[in-house]
Amino acid sequence: MMKEKLEQIKAEALRQIEASDALEKLNEIKVNYLGKKGELTAVLKSMKDVAPEDRPKVGQLVNETREEIEKVLEASVKKMERAVREAKLKTEVIDVTLPSKKNKMGHRHPNTIALEEVERIFIGMGYEVVEGPDVEKDYYNFEALNIPADHPAKDEQDTFYITGDILLRTQTSSTQVHEMEKGKLPIRMIAPGRVFRSDEVDATHSPSFHQIEGLVIDKHITFADLKGTLAEFAKELFGEDTKVKFRPHHFPFTEPSAEMDVTCFKCGGKGCRFCKGEGWIEILGCGMVHPHVLEMSGIDPEQYTGFAFGVGLERIALLKYEIDDMRLLYENDIRFLKQF
Ligand code: DAH
Repeated sequence: MMKEKLEQIKAEALRQIEASDALEKLNEIKVNYLGKKGELTAVLKSMKDVAPEDRPKVGQLVNETREEIEKVLEASVKKMERAVREAKLKTEVIDVTLPSKKNKMGHRHPNTIALEEVERIFIGMGYEVVEGPDVEKDYYNFEALNIPADHPAKDEQDTFYITGDILLRTQTSSTQVHEMEKGKLPIRMIAPGRVFRSDEVDATHSPSFHQIEGLVIDKHITFADLKGTLAEFAKELFGEDTKVKFRPHHFPFTEPSAEMDVTCFKCGGKGCRFCKGEGWIEILGCGMVHPHVLEMSGIDPEQYTGFAFGVGLERIALLKYEIDDMRLLYENDIRFLKQF
């Protein structure tokens, strides 16, 4: 009786195992037959109905049945696990011979490279690098720099006004005033930054570009200091053989004022296509700080003198890297930028 029942249970269990196509199903079979509430346990529980002398025999039969089911079940689980793993491996093949994905690294902009070069040169001469605000009061951009109210630069056609009194600075010269107002002397500073003018975009103009301002104020500063400093700057930037030339000019905040040219670093001054046959290239504006400008910012012009200069950063970048269209600097085309 018991033996038959056990045979039946075993046959049914093995049939189900055979028919299983998933690990979950095998687990279910395990619970159903071997678990605490499983069929074999139920048989053990009914042992009390078996005659005591038959009990060891029946017990042994139950154990044998259990072991056999366990054995087949375990083998099935292993087989199925292997199959699952193999299927997974097949879908996850990695072709180690494929070329790797390259990380695209960013690149410093030609403006940044040129600025760092200029900063390096002036830091080497003991200058401090400072910054001023892009949005300025009229006073800092014009008035304190001796630029009269009727000056053409103040026209709305040239300057972006935010209100009647607040504007986007048109020149980094405004930082001169901020530095002088701090009241700490002597001053040896350069101030790089963005400036804004109401210009149409073309090969040489942009409504936003960059300048680097320079200011030195101390006792006994003369035009000779200006010349020596800027000649040294030109040599370091464009090469040891570079010569400089100063042409008289006018800026309201300097007196006397000049524009500085450098010998063309392509032809050495002979004249070529690059310098349009001139041999010289205009590079910056400069001059001795006007006594009235010193006075307005609280510096005694009887005791202190100084020189200032302003140079266009894009101009330097374009010259140094021989780029002939300023627009290229702003288009952010990586194919262009990564050449420098
Ligand atoms: N701010 C002038 C400009 O934008 C450049 C300049 C000229 C700056 C002479 C100076 C200077 O400091 O002394 O054209």
